[in-house]
Amino acid sequence: MERVYGRIMMSKVTEHDRLAVSCGMRVLHVSAEVAPFSKTGGLGDVAAALPVALARLGLDVMVVTPWYRHLGGDVAPFWIGDVEVPFGGAVERVGVGTLEQDGVRYVFVGHGDFSRASLYGYDDDVVRFIRFSRAVPAVAARVGFVPDLVHAHDWHAALLPALLEHGAGLPLGFAGLPSVLTIHNIQFQGGGDLDEVLRLAGLPIGLERSYLHHVGDANLLKAGIGFADLVTTVSPTYARELTEGAHAFGLDELLRHVGPKLVGILNGIDTALWDPANDPFIAQPYDRDAPAGKAACRSALEAELGLAGAGPLLGVVSRFADQKGIDLLLAAVPALLEMGWRLVLLGTGDAGLEAAAAAAARADPERVAARLVHDEALAHRVYAGCDALAVPSRFEPCGLSQMIAQRYGTLPIARATGGLADTIRHAQDGFLFGPAEVGALQEACATAASAFATPAWETMRGEAMALDRDWQTSAQEYLARYRGIMGVTT
Ligand code: GLC
Repeated sequence: MERVYGRIMMSKVTEHDRLAVSCGMRVLHVSAEVAPFSKTGGLGDVAAALPVALARLGLDVMVVTPWYRHLGGDVAPFWIGDVEVPFGGAVERVGVGTLEQDGVRYVFVGHGDFSRASLYGYDDDVVRFIRFSRAVPAVAARVGFVPDLVHAHDWHAALLPALLEHGAGLPLGFAGLPSVLTIHNIQFQGGGDLDEVLRLAGLPIGLERSYLHHVGDANLLKAGIGFADLVTTVSPTYARELTEGAHAFGLDELLRHVGPKLVGILNGIDTALWDPANDPFIAQPYDRDAPAGKAACRSALEAELGLAGAGPLLGVVSRFADQKGIDLLLAAVPALLEMGWRLVLLGTGDAGLEAAAAAAARADPERVAARLVHDEALAHRVYAGCDALAVPSRFEPCGLSQMIAQRYGTLPIARATGGLADTIRHAQDGFLFGPAEVGALQEACATAASAFATPAWETMRGEAMALDRDWQTSAQEYLARYRGIMGVTT
């Protein structure tokens, strides 16, 4: 297996990189969302950044994802034809689109199932993503890509390890391929009728007693955890929490059972996209050595949102969901205003939480702004213009917003859970609190408010901005694990 890729500049690569190049590994990533083409949350960001970082290490990387009705990004996929896919005992045709960007090849699976207004949230989501998973080997083979390893993300792609091991009608070279499953959020597992799932997927009936089975039903994420050669999740603390039974949504016993097959690898962030020194969306660039621009970004944000008065700005950039503890934050609003904070709330989600955020803004528009939209450009300005960012998540597999905030010199005030606990050092580059309770959140915000505008705050801000969050570090860890499961030792 000797393949060397021209895009690697040999003068720049490290010994580690060279090993990857000589290994010439071909990896197929499979994700239901990949930014900028599609994104509802952090999964889209990670499925975009990790493949690029792996390609930089010299791996040959392809990403397969659905061809949704609305795709973001500047370039549209090029339709190259249809391919036949076994599904539900018959053969179906799906469209194949491709494009290449940043050293990564993307393949899009086209089917009426994906030509809908939203990415998910439909009653037949499980059927849609079984169809997608079934199509993955066929579309990869269609473009001549037979991988050495398949890396599936979250429940939507979690049937692939079982398909590779037991599925009928796979293209040449796919049967028995090693597989990796990454859990970005164990809350979503993909459940369905067992017989129906086996029938649609073309899996043998004997698997009804396998890892696919969960309390009488099929559970796609559970099948992935059981059948994959390696299961990763997106922070070491979340990996530990899952096996300890916290936030495991019924799968902790299995995760304990798979033992060392589960590892936590911390996500990075896209440091080129999230760079206050070079960010087209913000009022004035700044960095750790020349932080003055941050004050200009703050004033611009106040003006944009109609905020008045003085006092530190506390931002929220989040999905409005129970997981994210937005209810805790909203319940704390009166106390936070009392402490002198002003608030900027940006995000969409649960209708009740959105209504409560809108009501808080209506009640005190000069001190509370709520923008209940998905607006990436505004998110940049909130990270840059705020002094602190609240991340009161009940559980958080990794969390990207706290790392982005730190890079923008905006100190996170977060619950000590999952990736938040792994990326924030209390009173050094942010603030952590324990219980998922309004009182604990308020206490942490009071500590932060009293530190604000002191020399200690400036020191913390400098520390936060100096943190290295580059994806390359994580990518090297994934590569080491890939090599482990493939038995590559040189
Ligand atoms: C999910 C998790 C989040 C994580 C992201 C990317 O959205 O909830 O914590 O950062 O996936 O892995």
